[in-house]
Amino acid sequence: MIPRKRIDIGWADLASGLLACVVPGALVGGARAAAKVESAWRTARGNLACLSVRSGFDALLSVLQLPAGSEVLVSAVTIRDMTRIIEAHGLIAVPVDVDHQTLAVSRAALERALSPRTRMVLVAHLFGSRMPMRDVVEFSNKNNILLIEDGAQAYTGDGWRGDISSDVCLFSFGPIKTATALGGAVMTFRDTVLRDRVRDAMSAWPLQARVSYCARLLKYALLVLLGYRPCYTVFASAMALLRVDCERLLAASLRGFAGGEFLAKIRRRPSMPLLALLHRRIRQGVQPAVGRRAERARQLAALLGAEPLSVVRPGATAAWHSHWVFPIVHPRADALIAYLQSHGFDATRGASSMAVVAATHGEGRASKAEQLFARLCYLPAHEGMRARDIERLAAAVRAFEADALAGNWRAA
Ligand SMILES: Cc1ncc(COP(=O)(O)O)c(C=O)c1O
Repeated sequence: MIPRKRIDIGWADLASGLLACVVPGALVGGARAAAKVESAWRTARGNLACLSVRSGFDALLSVLQLPAGSEVLVSAVTIRDMTRIIEAHGLIAVPVDVDHQTLAVSRAALERALSPRTRMVLVAHLFGSRMPMRDVVEFSNKNNILLIEDGAQAYTGDGWRGDISSDVCLFSFGPIKTATALGGAVMTFRDTVLRDRVRDAMSAWPLQARVSYCARLLKYALLVLLGYRPCYTVFASAMALLRVDCERLLAASLRGFAGGEFLAKIRRRPSMPLLALLHRRIRQGVQPAVGRRAERARQLAALLGAEPLSVVRPGATAAWHSHWVFPIVHPRADALIAYLQSHGFDATRGASSMAVVAATHGEGRASKAEQLFARLCYLPAHEGMRARDIERLAAAVRAFEADALAGNWRAA
């Protein structure tokens, strides 16, 4: 079985994280470790290291104290927790539709979602693409709205730090991200005074327990092992024998801050070993895996786009794409996934916590995003695959289409 994705961390990174957990000298110096991360981030703006993007965003909203009922325009596709945080602060998330082809939010969609209560816009670069920010910047400047740019899915180590005109940019180093530190995030602020206020707000939070970060490193070491094909094949077969839902198990293991008390869990400061590993990952710069991943994705895109297949691929005309994941839209997404799984490809419906932002009033629905999401599935196309694996995958999709046309294939 070809796994859906590789956790982008090496054995040397894991070992250095574990070492930082046990070196006694590392028990002190959290502030110094954070300062090192912030200076390695290298922007002329105000940088701030935090436990996760969700933690930083939550702290930002606590500091801003926007009036209850204020509206935040949000890219219609994002992770559920971002809207959950908005709501926890008494604010209303208003979806802004996302274009299938470019994965960008348009100026027209922003204008449609605008109301006298709009105070903030939060746009997410999706699936590894980066949308041009000019329209969003102009819109937020004209309407005097705070602009938050969510780059959680778009980091590649290439020095991109978001748009200099965005008020705040968010970058995640969570477990399924490129150059992961198995947690951690960096925020970049246009206004250093706001950065200092957010830092002060966070300073009241408890520190992430070093032992829990150590346990996380060990857990992910096991998951990294599953990124190797033979290990994953044994694991997937064992789970099938035991009748354990592999999809659910993996989703639960990869989800950060699962279970109850979500806000209490995100309201923590990063431990010293996490900061040390974050510093290491940032300093590594461009990740070699990114180039290989993009090459595989381009190969698959070309094969799927060729006659007689014509698979719809969100982001096909994105201005810039690193192919963090490879989503397609398919009218029988569930049947296709079952078929690919039975042919050794771990395609998935997206066990990630991505969702369409629900509108609180009917006319504000993001219909394009809803249509996209209802039929979305992710194909494995990553650096752990060979060119001939991609050819086999495209052939399997083609065979599914042929079978489906002949009426031979029923969803399992
Ligand atoms: C678009 C987007 N925003 C925010 C986040 C949250 O990042 P973190 O895990 O650092 O809180 C994610 C995580 O997947 C994401 O994809």
